[in-house]
Formats: sequence, structure tokens, C-alpha cells
Amino acid sequence: MASGRRPLIAANWKMNGLKSDGVALAQAVAAWAKSAGAALRGEVLVSPPATLIDAVSAALTGSPVQLGGQDCHAQPSGAFTGDISAAMLKDLGASHVILGHSERRTLHGETDDQVKAKVAAARSVGLVAIVCVGETEAQRDAGDTLAVIVRQIDGSIPSEATATEIVVAYEPVWAIGTGRTPTLAEIVEVHKAIRARLAARIPGGDAVRILYGGSVKPSNAPEVLALADVDGALVGGASLKADDFFAIVNALPQA
Ligand code: 13P
Repeated sequence: MASGRRPLIAANWKMNGLKSDGVALAQAVAAWAKSAGAALRGEVLVSPPATLIDAVSAALTGSPVQLGGQDCHAQPSGAFTGDISAAMLKDLGASHVILGHSERRTLHGETDDQVKAKVAAARSVGLVAIVCVGETEAQRDAGDTLAVIVRQIDGSIPSEATATEIVVAYEPVWAIGTGRTPTLAEIVEVHKAIRARLAARIPGGDAVRILYGGSVKPSNAPEVLALADVDGALVGGASLKADDFFAIVNALPQA
């Protein structure tokens, strides 16, 4: 963690939760964050499935917990069955949107160009885009990790984006939901490369927060969150268990 950047722990619930358990989880996170008050060591955000955004938004009212979507369309409206726009997320109280997650890149064939158009759409309505990048296992084995990450950063982030409009999440594809993580040195190496690329491309790029994601849990969070240029975490599975999620937020180093 470097000074000057407020850390962020972001929950990605993915396609999990019906109304009752999703709202109960949001209420638990909201109550916990509220009672932590000034002792909260960073910003906290939850990203429920689209079906729960409205109800979760209501559950978070009056708490410091922020709300994010998991995707948005690049266009503001139109004949796009099943899609939702950035403005629709904003309308329900979201402040952030996760874009270019590897599950969307892989399972929905999203390209860097498409992710970039979505980031532009998010910017246009004032949503912070959490832009995900990460290499596959084959790319890591081939020694291509840094080249892949730089290509995704360049391809997915509009050059006119400013430091406060984006967050970057480094999520190695092979570490997502597998229980496997890179070594601490490997995380530092990639985050350093992302930092350098952002600094070269974006005015004030040093202020962009870079999250690590991929099998973050209470047991590994303290050492990961203490690393240089790791400004928080994007948490999948462990964010569905309130106590695990709280433990990860509490693992943030004291400011
Ligand atoms: P897991 O924490 O379940 O590995 O998922 C990470 C992730 O994809 C968050 O976006």
C-alpha cells in the first residue's frame, strides 16, 4: 500500500444471491461498516447482481458502503435486450461498475475495444470504472504476463480517463475461484508494471488505485494488502460470507 491512496475493498458477488439473502448480506455489511465508523480502514463497496441493485441500494442507505454494478452496456439506451446501461446503474445509486472482468472477457467474448467503450459510457455518467486485467495460466507460463497486462491496460482504458474515474483490478485468470494465488513477489511485479503504465498514460496516474483479485481470503489478505502498489482487493467468493469479508477489510494496514 502506498501513501495518498485510500484503499478499497470491493465485493463482487457475481451471479449469486436471491432477494432475501442478498438483502440480508447487504444489511449486515452496512451495519458492520456503520458501527466501525472512523475505524474503517478503507472504502468498502459491494457489487450485487443487477436484479438486487435496487434492494441493496436501499439496504445500504445511511451507511458508508458504496454500490457497484458488474457490467454495463456501452450505449446509453436502445434495442439491447438483456443489457443495462451505465445511467441505469447510476439511477439506482451505484457509484462504480466492474468492467472487463475475465468472466465477461472469456464467457461473453468481450474485447479490449468493447471494454474501453463501456469505460467511456461509465465516465459519461460519473460512474467509476473498476477495469479488470489479468493473464491466463498459459500466458503466465509463456512469460507473457506483463505484455498481456500492458496490452489490456492500453486497450481497455480510454486515454482521456482521469485518475479518479478509474480503478484497476489485477485478477490473474488462473487465481479466480481456484484457491491459488501468485507469489507476493509476482503480485508486486505486476502491480508495479500497472502503476508505471498508468503513470505514462494518464495524468496523475499515480493516484489510480490498483486492486488485487483472485482467491483473496482472510488468511492471505494481510500479506497481500500490505504489498507496495496494492491499494485494496476485489473479492469474489469470500465476499459472500459476511465474517470473511469483514476480516478482509480489517486486514487493511492501518493508515
Ligand atoms: P474469487 O475471490 O472467488 O477468486 O474471485 C475473484 C474475482 O473474480 C473477483 O472479481
